[in-house]
Amino acid sequence: MKRIDFLQKALLAAGGLTAGALSSARAGNPEVIPNPLPPADPEALNIFELEQVAKEKLPTIAYDYYRSGAWDEVTLKSNRESYEKLKIHYRVLVDVADRDLSTTVFGQKISFPIMVAPTAFHKLAHPDGELATARAAVNTGTIMTLSSLSTTTIEEVAAATNKNFWFQLYINKNREYTRDLVARAESAGAKALVVTVDTPMWGRRERDVRNGFHLPPGLSAINLVKYDKDAVAKGQTGAGLGQSFAWMLDATLQWKDMDWLAGITKLPIIIKGVCRADDARIALQHGVKGIVVSNHGGRQMDSAPATIDVLPSIVDAVGNDLTVLMDGGIRRGLDAMKAIAQGAKAVLVGRPVLWGLAAGGQVGVEKALTILRTELDLAMALSGCRNVREINRNLLG
Ligand code: GLV
Repeated sequence: MKRIDFLQKALLAAGGLTAGALSSARAGNPEVIPNPLPPADPEALNIFELEQVAKEKLPTIAYDYYRSGAWDEVTLKSNRESYEKLKIHYRVLVDVADRDLSTTVFGQKISFPIMVAPTAFHKLAHPDGELATARAAVNTGTIMTLSSLSTTTIEEVAAATNKNFWFQLYINKNREYTRDLVARAESAGAKALVVTVDTPMWGRRERDVRNGFHLPPGLSAINLVKYDKDAVAKGQTGAGLGQSFAWMLDATLQWKDMDWLAGITKLPIIIKGVCRADDARIALQHGVKGIVVSNHGGRQMDSAPATIDVLPSIVDAVGNDLTVLMDGGIRRGLDAMKAIAQGAKAVLVGRPVLWGLAAGGQVGVEKALTILRTELDLAMALSGCRNVREINRNLLG
């Protein structure tokens, strides 16, 4: 058996997804031609295959929670399908031997324009939870957005990222809780606040209702439990997110609350969940510095438009005044390229990170992010783009 085959088998048998380990094995083996692509891993060549690995490892209740959308999952599907409608009118005879994928968001340099979206309860996917995700984000040169609904404390994630993380916020009915949480994120070192604005109430995800979604004993939305003495018990009622976590939302939330938020923090406020150009323009008047064009991965308002479809009108409305990011349905680096071509400064990915986390903890998340980065890099080369500034609408014909 060739040494690399042996190593690959041994490492896979040890249960890891072995991106880093296999690369070093290659580097030390003169027989093996160096390959800049993620190593051939029979378990997962792409994010779709990584999802299959995750599906096999996860309990149904957790897999369904991560994958599901609201009601008929129309938006969940169209978030994906809309990428296929966009064609890349690639350029030829451009020297693309050296490519630079880096960009800057809110003054922070990231090595490729794909960031980690906020997603809840990472310890449901893997015992290392958000710490694994945080370390993977750092190792791949990007930024993690920590969910309010995390199973790891803000301070631990701050330490794991050397304070290089963003914090996602749901504004609570009790503004004093929110004031306290914001102060805590700010003093821990978060660099931006991502406020989810598409959730006056939880969308209805019928799989969760059917499965009686709940957190297992020992897990909780650890940063929130101090605000509600019954929070742990509520999280374990089996009534789905809609009832268990209703206490942390506020259906009265309005634009004026963004002014209030801007008044209690020095952090840039990015609102997440915008799907209309007129809303994006209103944001300009309320202390908001950025928006994430998002429909919450199809988990809130079903039949909301695909994010890639509404992105251009939002960029046209506010792209010079606000940083426009987007998420939703990105499963290929090529999808990220299309979003950037439509004017997004960077994209965020949620489920791909969860699939990597479930498949292999930190190494799995690194693998997910590396797959997307490598695909984006190749898509840039094949379309004549040497850097992210050259990815623009001209490419879309
Ligand atoms: C949490 O934000 C969720 O959508 O489940």
